[in-house]
Amino acid sequence: MSYQETWRASINDPETFWLGEARRLQWMTEPTAALSQDEQGRQRWFQGGELNVAQLALDAHVDAGRGDQAALLYDSPVSGARAQYTYRQLRDEVAQAAGMLRDLGVGQGDRVVIYMPMIPEAVIAMLACARLGAIHSVVFGGFAANELAVRIDDAAPRVVLTASCGIEVDRVIPYQPLVTEALRRAKHAPDCVVYVSRPEAEVDWASERDLDWGTLMERASPADPVSVDATHPLYILYTSGTTGKPKGVVRDSGGYAVALNWSLGAVYDLHPGDVFWTASDVGWVVGHSYIVYGPLIRGCTTVVYEGKPVRTPDAGAFWRVISEYRAKAFFTAPTAFRAIKKEDPEAQHLQRYDISCLENVFVAGERLDPPTYEWLAQTLQRPVIDHWWQTETGWPIVANPMGIEPMPVKSGSATLPMAGYDIRVLDDSGRELPAGEQGNLAIRLPLPPGCLPTLWNDEARFRKSYLDRFPGYYDTSDGGFIDEDGYVYVMGRVDDVINVAGHRLSTGEMEEVIGDHSAVAECAVVGIHDDTKGELPVAFVVLKDGSDIEQEQIEADLTSMIRNEIGAIASLRRVAVVQKLPKTRSGKILRKSIRTLAKEAREEVPTPSTIDDVSSLDEIADAIRAHNLGRYA
Ligand code: COA
Ligand code: AMP
Repeated sequence: MSYQETWRASINDPETFWLGEARRLQWMTEPTAALSQDEQGRQRWFQGGELNVAQLALDAHVDAGRGDQAALLYDSPVSGARAQYTYRQLRDEVAQAAGMLRDLGVGQGDRVVIYMPMIPEAVIAMLACARLGAIHSVVFGGFAANELAVRIDDAAPRVVLTASCGIEVDRVIPYQPLVTEALRRAKHAPDCVVYVSRPEAEVDWASERDLDWGTLMERASPADPVSVDATHPLYILYTSGTTGKPKGVVRDSGGYAVALNWSLGAVYDLHPGDVFWTASDVGWVVGHSYIVYGPLIRGCTTVVYEGKPVRTPDAGAFWRVISEYRAKAFFTAPTAFRAIKKEDPEAQHLQRYDISCLENVFVAGERLDPPTYEWLAQTLQRPVIDHWWQTETGWPIVANPMGIEPMPVKSGSATLPMAGYDIRVLDDSGRELPAGEQGNLAIRLPLPPGCLPTLWNDEARFRKSYLDRFPGYYDTSDGGFIDEDGYVYVMGRVDDVINVAGHRLSTGEMEEVIGDHSAVAECAVVGIHDDTKGELPVAFVVLKDGSDIEQEQIEADLTSMIRNEIGAIASLRRVAVVQKLPKTRSGKILRKSIRTLAKEAREEVPTPSTIDDVSSLDEIADAIRAHNLGRYA
């Protein structure tokens, strides 16, 4: 079938289409229906079908005779460690880890928080939870104690699985102080914390709550996979919303497995035995779907890389790993390539490696800007595939279907809708816009399998965030347009979520942290263009009357508050003190105007009719110039 035929079949008769895809997987009880409604009126996929995702990802391949094939290759330039697991070895490790969790009282439906660096145990921990029907929630290792505490309180885990440290290039980051501080702040108390001991940092075993992974694993006996309903949550993954509280995106088991398996073939053109390397982190959705579950469900070999695109040790790091492990497809965020291009514009490091194995390069997580696309396509002389998706959807909404029918690439576009995604461009009143006109990107319901059915413990927020604004549609909160040929162009978020080096962050959350500073009366954080990281947060603050704090001091204070409360990844370093923030007469801060002022000259920026004081816009424009931000960088 051509791409058009496939896509049409998925839209005209989604039930038949997805039931057909479901039959490609090994179920414990095959689903008889595709789409149904649960008691709360939510649309659910494959209810009544039973499976175990860890069994699909491991045992099914061992049973099919692929036990000796490499499942996971671990490469850590920061520690010098390397390891390889065959499917059989990984299955056995995961069964043992599931036994360990069972000994700790973890059962079906219990939550387990995983706060780990990029080590094989992070993948083993996730799959061990899945094997027991426990629900994992992985927290990115770059988040500070407070972020971990917020997630622990929301997910209420029985156990926290972590490691003695992470390693950032050459800096060892001990995790025990972070976990201890998070548990001090959290209201919920898990039964215990299990540490993987790494040679780079020791754990202080004084507290009875802290247990050693190695010792527990030795004592455990392997656990079998349990059968769960297709709608049983596989995981909760917290992502930034517009407020300080992150959203707990729930992922079901069956729909996710079916959609990932489809995407591995249709989008990434990957088949059992192929090597797929995704350079991301298991703390993000990209890591969940395309380091862990997708490649393993498909029977591919996945690469777990603990390093950076540059500095570990140089800008040739990606080419080395591709060449050494013979990756057929490679996936990362555009920002990583911008970092390489900055250090090695002529791609001289590439000459040292044979990357003839590499067929396609995929990028997502943020807009692929045309200059980065051109550089990559020229340097690599291979298809460079932009694709658009979100934590909420779990797999690509728009992509180039390399495994069905590669479509011509248009620079700036993520290409065409994938199966089950019926995308429309709506104006703010919900009217559909014609080709070429920019508006809100929305997806007609039902969403295909794999997309979030709800938010953890917060169905009301789920409806408010995604369904209420445009009845009958899922609101993506991204803006963009569709051209005459149906190509989708994603231009960026229309809410207050920003994207810093491929990391999704909430400016609202940063504002809450900054608002706690004793000298700050009010503030607005906006994302401003940065050549490498895509966007960087900048804080515009109004000081309290009578405050005489110096510019340097407030910048230092706010930088360290954001590092301590959210994490270094937020990369807030620039603070501009102003007398007044531009607001509407009803008191709403005009963040969009601030963002536009960073891109365009003051004369080009329309003055909103609702503004309470026009001079505030002039002051922001002056501050942007004075601090060399945005267009003045
Ligand atoms: N644990 C602790 N700290 C972390 C961390 C982690 N897991 N990850 C990042 N940090 C810290 C960094 O050390 C850095 O600290 P610093 O300000 O003290 O130097 C800060 O957070 C910012 O990190 P990062 O955004 O990674 O910036 P960088 O300058 O170190 O590297 C890039 C820039 C572009 C090379 C890097 O961001 C990158 O590889 N991005 C790709 C991101 C990606 O894969 N995203 C997933 C979506 S596909
Ligand atoms: P996350 O949930 O962290 O994956 O971030 C999702 C957001 O990243 C989307 O809502 C977009 O704003 C942005 N994004 C992801 N992929 C792309 C892409 N290919 N082009 C443009 N923006 C993207």
